[in-house]
Amino acid sequence: MTTTVNDLTESRAAREFFKTFDSAPTWVASAPGRVNLIGEHTDYNDGFVLPMAIEHRTTIAASLTHDQIVTLHSLTTGDVATFEIDDELKPGQPEWSNYVRGVIAGFQKLKLPVKGFNAVIDSNVPLGSGLSSSAALEVATASLLEAMTGSSLGPVNKALLCQRAEHEFAGVPCGIMDQFISTMGEKDHLLLIDCRSRQGELVPFNDSTLEMLIINTNVRHSLADGEYGKRRAQCEAAAATLNVTALRDATLADLEAAKSKLDPLIYRRARHVIGENDRTLEAAHCLRAGQWERLGTLMYESHASLRDDYEVSCEELDLVVELASNIGLGGGVIGCRMTGGGFGGCAVALVRASEAQAIRKKIGEEYLAKTGKSATLFLSRPGSGAAIIENS
Ligand code: GLA
Repeated sequence: MTTTVNDLTESRAAREFFKTFDSAPTWVASAPGRVNLIGEHTDYNDGFVLPMAIEHRTTIAASLTHDQIVTLHSLTTGDVATFEIDDELKPGQPEWSNYVRGVIAGFQKLKLPVKGFNAVIDSNVPLGSGLSSSAALEVATASLLEAMTGSSLGPVNKALLCQRAEHEFAGVPCGIMDQFISTMGEKDHLLLIDCRSRQGELVPFNDSTLEMLIINTNVRHSLADGEYGKRRAQCEAAAATLNVTALRDATLADLEAAKSKLDPLIYRRARHVIGENDRTLEAAHCLRAGQWERLGTLMYESHASLRDDYEVSCEELDLVVELASNIGLGGGVIGCRMTGGGFGGCAVALVRASEAQAIRKKIGEEYLAKTGKSATLFLSRPGSGAAIIENS
């Protein structure tokens, strides 16, 4: 991504860095959060996902020090993390520092030694909301460390290194979607990722009559609490009974044929994943062909499947989807579904741009009336992936 030195001084992280450390930062790295249009809980089944980077980003302004101490000021949480880089870097406190520690450990494993640095971290990606705030921090950190160590990992290896950081330092056995899109997202495009071959195919989304509306229920979720890992294990159990490497390799017909051998719960989990892979490929086709109505139907089907078969939705997400579908095509809502890992967090709606503000207001008001809670609703066009600016 091309950026100018102006962007560097314009970022709040850079300004705060200057105030805190009394000098300009050498680098400002940033990476976006993401919203997934469709293809949920398919990535760790070698399947397909269709996310886009959002315009909300995590930014890190940093300079090297002369020792092995890392000092991180977070403008988001208001606290400071300090730790020493040694050969045995381990998870520690505060928890958010583990995303940075994990990425540093990944560089060390590659024999790319990281030196001490000061940094200020800023983010407008909502935390714990299913918009990949953690991947944004990991990928921004990896971009910074590439510059600091004078290396280039390449996008796929960079995303995989960040995924490992999440597994080993944050305890979330996530798939590859979030780190991939945060690294490789492109303006005006969604990315259809084949999570087996790790190939991404850009799918244009630049029709100015359409908008992506993100609805944050403000129900915080945590994927480290075991439910995510349980779903992963249930999918592996299903794949083993179906005698395939991953659920990506099974069809709905295979599943029906094996139904009697499967525990009913495992059967439903597998039905979600297999159906969702089909829906995701069809959704990419609909996007390319401008078949909006069909795309909307696929989004609602995806939500129902996540709610009933995969059981990762929650009352508030179901309510948002219901409110959106009540507005319907006539009111400008093409489709709506929960997005991300689930158990709270966000829904995504594809809406007509001309009606977007009215839809936003209506869903916000009705959500408040029914739950007593405020949702946060915002629009985002597909943004760009990770970027780095060097102040030379
Ligand atoms: C989280 C994980 C992703 C993916 C989604 C569900 O965001 O980090 O890898 O599994 O949940 O689609």
